[in-house]
Amino acid sequence: MSSSEPWTIRRILEWTIGHLTEKTIDTPRLDAEILLAHACGCQRIELYTRYDEVLGDKPRGVMRELVKRRTKFEPVAYLVGYREFFSLDFRVTPDVLIPRPDTETLVLELLELAKPFGAPRILDIGTGTGCIAITTAVNNRAATVTAVDISPPALKVAHANAVQHEVADRLRLLEGDLFAPLNPAEPFDIIASNPPYIAEQEWESLQPDVRQHEPRQALVSGSDGLDIIRRLIKQSPEFLVPDGHLLLEIDTTQSDAVRRLLEAESAFENIRLINDLTGRPRVAVASKCRE
Ligand SMILES: C[S@@+](CC[C@H](N)C(=O)[O-])C[C@H]1O[C@@H](n2cnc3c(N)ncnc32)[C@H](O)[C@@H]1O
Repeated sequence: MSSSEPWTIRRILEWTIGHLTEKTIDTPRLDAEILLAHACGCQRIELYTRYDEVLGDKPRGVMRELVKRRTKFEPVAYLVGYREFFSLDFRVTPDVLIPRPDTETLVLELLELAKPFGAPRILDIGTGTGCIAITTAVNNRAATVTAVDISPPALKVAHANAVQHEVADRLRLLEGDLFAPLNPAEPFDIIASNPPYIAEQEWESLQPDVRQHEPRQALVSGSDGLDIIRRLIKQSPEFLVPDGHLLLEIDTTQSDAVRRLLEAESAFENIRLINDLTGRPRVAVASKCRE
């Protein structure tokens, strides 16, 4: 293609896909489309109806910069500033973990378990963007949700998302280390967490998108990845009502270890593992025994 040819949307897309492929980016077409739609200020789907349109200098300049950053493995969600989760857009910054589709498995189970409680009191530990807490509040209008994170900048992002999705009046955001900002005299019906669960040694082998750009504190948890999970299992019974539930997102390789940890905690019964869409165990659930 000669360089004198005009830079139409089609041509920019084709060039970008080729360039991202060359730079070993995993999903070159998807990324190219999301970045170009962002540079054009339109929906991805609209690109198809604008294929032959010649792009102006300004959006082309924006696109050039986005592609340059993407080739340095900056995640697309950070470049465009949002990520869809459970059909809602969540604001993301490099201070928060980018919500993953895996976590939708936990939310589905949480919403189901919340139904019998009528007006459930829910706790989300390690809220990040607030994606678990906020999708729960949006989909269960009677729920009141408390969300804790150790990271003050993450809590700011969660607050912005709660305002955007109009649930800030039912979401209490607290800063602290796991249960530290909470009072056992005010227990919860359900405690959910997608905690950090990567082993320290694994950090170096993670994809550069993750390792170079996402917050380490959101991902790593001790030598076997289970440090925080152990603490959550130990401490959560004190903050749960009898018949209340604990839900933990886990790595698919941790299911046996987490089951054993839950079985060793006498306050829990009815321990089960829920598979994600790929059929692998992704969420551990336990219910607190009646006293
Ligand atoms: C895996 S991210 C999950 C974020 C979000 N809930 C999600 O599912 O996308 C874990 C979160 O836990 C927070 N965190 C890490 N250690 C913590 C601790 N000791 N107490 C409270 N939050 C913690 C991190 O800041 C991060 O936001």
